[in-house]
Amino acid sequence: MKIEIKDKKVFFENHGSKKEIHPFWLRERVNGDNFVDKKTQQRLFDPTELKENIQINNLNLSNEFLEVTFNDGAHTKITIQNILKEFSNINEIKYIDKVEWDSSLKNFNNFEFKDNFFEEEEMYKALVSFYQYGFVIFKKVPTKNNFIVNFANSIGSIRRTNFGEFFDVKSKPNPNDLAYTSLPLAPHTDNPYRNPVPCIQMLHCIENEVSGGLSTLVDGYTVTQKLKKDFKDFYKILTEIKVRFQFVDQSVVLEDWAEMIQLDESGNFKQVRFSPRLDFVPLMDVDKLQLYYSARKKISELYNSDKFKIEFKLSPGDLLMMDNYRLLHGRTTYDANEGNRFLQGCYIDYDSTEGKLKHLKRKFNL
Ligand SMILES: [Fe+2]
Repeated sequence: MKIEIKDKKVFFENHGSKKEIHPFWLRERVNGDNFVDKKTQQRLFDPTELKENIQINNLNLSNEFLEVTFNDGAHTKITIQNILKEFSNINEIKYIDKVEWDSSLKNFNNFEFKDNFFEEEEMYKALVSFYQYGFVIFKKVPTKNNFIVNFANSIGSIRRTNFGEFFDVKSKPNPNDLAYTSLPLAPHTDNPYRNPVPCIQMLHCIENEVSGGLSTLVDGYTVTQKLKKDFKDFYKILTEIKVRFQFVDQSVVLEDWAEMIQLDESGNFKQVRFSPRLDFVPLMDVDKLQLYYSARKKISELYNSDKFKIEFKLSPGDLLMMDNYRLLHGRTTYDANEGNRFLQGCYIDYDSTEGKLKHLKRKFNL
């Protein structure tokens, strides 16, 4: 990749293809104290107010800089590196490869909480691991005073829902969700009825005196890859049909329509939704519904199979952070008479983890 100039025009050359860079594109990037606020990196001018026919009057190219004078009098010196960075189109998160895993996954990436943790390189490693595996476990996280709120807000911002800023997971009378019972919970994703669905869930273990109540995780990415390979028709219909997910209680009705396996615009994995107690398949032709039900049964079998599930016990101080677009989670049953089992949970969105990861990458020059 390189920058070239010719006849008052700037070109970007990559793998033999050479394209002109629009003068306005460069004019928008004029830097210097009169044009950009140093602290915020935000423009001090509004490019929509500039005249449209911006032309280049003068150009100078060195190894490190491109110097441009425009016909409206603006002059700038842009580093070549900054221009190339914009063309490389590298989104750091997207380029962290997902590691497919199943029940054979043994060494979970644990990270020990300590003072200043959120500004340390260790936090960067934890976030990279989170994007690779879809989850990470933090150990020795303080359990007093709803510290989960502090923890979440130190990475980004809590996503508040109708369950509150955070929620207590323990069995209680008259629950509005099965999570608040001692019943087993099959692998599921949280809140598929919200728009947007909360991206990341945190569960912080405060007390755990029972012998059951193991936490379970399944990698929805691994399972859908398996389905794509071995059951093409099932994969196809689950990526195509939108179903209605619903949550109803005394004070709210939440509904959203979405695919159980959602792909991005390039046909790649984006998100799984699975919560078979609150999904409603639309009325379709009998044959199509038959195929849909078979597909849903198959993916449910895979999600619930011991081949893909990991089980582990959370101890007081453990904080599990998991990707709710990729992983399914659940728990085994427990006997509430054995003692207390008390977790606190909350949600954050991807802008929190991405923002933190990019900040730490910049800070440590990684
Ligand atoms: Fe859940």
